[in-house]
Formats: sequence, C-alpha cells, structure tokens
Amino acid sequence: MKPGLEVKIGKLRLKNPVMAASGTFGEEYKDLVDINSLGAVVAKTITLKPYSGNPPPRLAETPSGMLNSIGLENKGLDDFLKNKMKFLKTLKIPVIASIAGEDESEFKELAKHLSKVKRVDAIEVNLSCPNIKGRGMIAQDAKATYRVITAVRKATSLTMIAKLSPNVTDINQIAKSAEVAGADAVTLINTILGMAVDIDTKSPVLGNVTGGLSGPAIRPIALRMVWETRNKIKIPIIGAGGIMDYKDAIEFILCGAKAIQVGTANFVNPKATTEIIDGIKRYLVRNKIRDINRLVGTLNATPGVGKVI
Ligand SMILES: Cc1cc2nc3c(=O)[nH]c(=O)nc-3n(C[C@H](O)[C@H](O)[C@H](O)COP(=O)(O)O)c2cc1C
Repeated sequence: MKPGLEVKIGKLRLKNPVMAASGTFGEEYKDLVDINSLGAVVAKTITLKPYSGNPPPRLAETPSGMLNSIGLENKGLDDFLKNKMKFLKTLKIPVIASIAGEDESEFKELAKHLSKVKRVDAIEVNLSCPNIKGRGMIAQDAKATYRVITAVRKATSLTMIAKLSPNVTDINQIAKSAEVAGADAVTLINTILGMAVDIDTKSPVLGNVTGGLSGPAIRPIALRMVWETRNKIKIPIIGAGGIMDYKDAIEFILCGAKAIQVGTANFVNPKATTEIIDGIKRYLVRNKIRDINRLVGTLNATPGVGKVI
C-alpha cells in the first residue's frame, strides 16, 4: 500500500504535510537533505526595511529546548528578492514567504510586492512581532490580528497563513479573528517567551534578557493549543512546536493539524524533516490508513476516560 500524503492548505497542494519552519532552515541545508522531498519551506521572516535584530548573545540552550532572541534580524524585502529568492526559486516545492511589519501598511506593502514574485507560492504572516502601539505583540490582540490579516488579504490572492503566538490567554479568540479576517490557515505555534540566568555573572544569558523558547519543551503546549482550536475554526491548522520525529508529528495530526512545521529539530538533525516524512508513511502503512487526511483530528478523546470516580 502506498498511502496518500497530499494535503491542501488554501490553494496550496503539498505532496506531504511536512514543512520547514520559518527561521530554522535555508540554503545551507541543500547538501544535507533533499529539500525537494518536503511538503514546503517557509522562508525566514522579512520586513520591508532591514532590521539589525537584538544584541548578542541570541541563543541559549535550556532543558529540552532553546531560547532565541534573534529579533527579526533580516536584510529587508529588496535583499530577499535579489538574493534569497535566487535559491528559493530553484526549489520544486512550494515556497512560503514570511512577513512581519510594524503596522498594517507595512504588512500590506510586503504582501503586495511578494504577490508579484513568480516563485512565492504563499505568505505566512508572522504576527509575533511588537504591536505598533508598543502593547505586546500583534498576535496578543484579537483586534490588531484582525486588522493586519484584513490588510494582507486585500493585498494578495495567494494562500495566506496567519502564524499565531502562544503567549496569549485565549488562543481561540485570536485564531477566530484571523479566520474571520480572511486567513486560509493558521500556524500554531511560534515560540513561548522565556529567559535564562547565568548565576556566576548574575546576569541574563540573552542580550535581550528574554527570548523565545522552542523545541521539545514547548510541544505539550503547542499540542494543547492545536487541540483547543481544532473545532473553533474551519480553516486548516499547521502544527509547530517541538516536533522532533514522526511520532511527534502524528500527535499533532491526531489533535487536528493538517500539516506540521519542523523548526528546532533541524539544528539537532538536519535530516529531521525527511525522516519525519518516511516515519509518517510507515505509520500509515502499519495502521492501514490510505490517506493522511483521514487521520487528521481523529484523536480518541472520550470525555471521562481516566477520570477517578
Ligand atoms: C533560531 C530560530 C529562529 C526563528 N525565526 C523565526 C522567524 O524568522 N519567523 C517565524 O515566524 N518564526 C521563527 N522561529 C519560530 C519557529 O518557526 C517555530 O515556530 C518555533 O521555533 C516552534 O517550533 P520548533 O519547536 O519546532 O522550533 C524561529 C525559531 C528559532 C529557534
């Protein structure tokens, strides 16, 4: 049996549900892994103008995870079009650009330009960036999320994915805002705010003091958020957060994710993405499931099972 792995996200057809997550994967992987066997790649987030990012150190290892405070460092739209696209356009799989901005007009401008680029097949809107009014992140505010996604929707007919932040009280409210504003899918989740301390210098390990936690440490939280959101929105959910192997990916799919993204695992094992694809195939064969879509959201969560009476 050759199981069907194809999934649809908006207008995008992915030959399998495994994508490389934004900011964790790029050209440097081309000799280490067969990138064209992935479902899609999400490029690192770009802004309209170059951003210098946060002061070093920007990375710290933590138990079962890592903290990063890259701070959206990037060379801006022009460099992306001139340089980064050179490699991305050689790929035979969908290329998803990732955008961030300080206000709606910046997001809109980026989406408008990227929509004209031949090999940009979809746009992921990174809402985990500071709100223009300096009050937390856009993705922490349902109204700001609505405004930004509405603006991007007006600027592009490409498949648009809203990447949400876990640093919220009610993820359903934000996911719903993104859906109502016209997002074709949501990615759950970006990193979780955290920090680490060097007790000898009595100072924070990261130059920015706080950073985003990723890796296996955040997987239970990401899974819970996918599970909580699955019935609240109709658009597909792309699961991310601590997916290290195929078993983790299957957990997300059972909880309702139609596709998944692999981030931190790429740093540990450059072949993580392709090994996950192979593992998913074997799981489907073993369980006699002909089509991955039939597995999505099939978690057997009977209320009351395991309850102490
Ligand atoms: C070093 C690093 C850089 C990242 N850069 C971005 C980025 O530019 N844009 C974005 O949306 N997410 C970025 N992320 C978040 C990841 O795409 C992903 O959502 C998150 O790390 C959770 O998945 P993981 O535990 O598999 O890494 C970054 C993560 C890491 C570790």
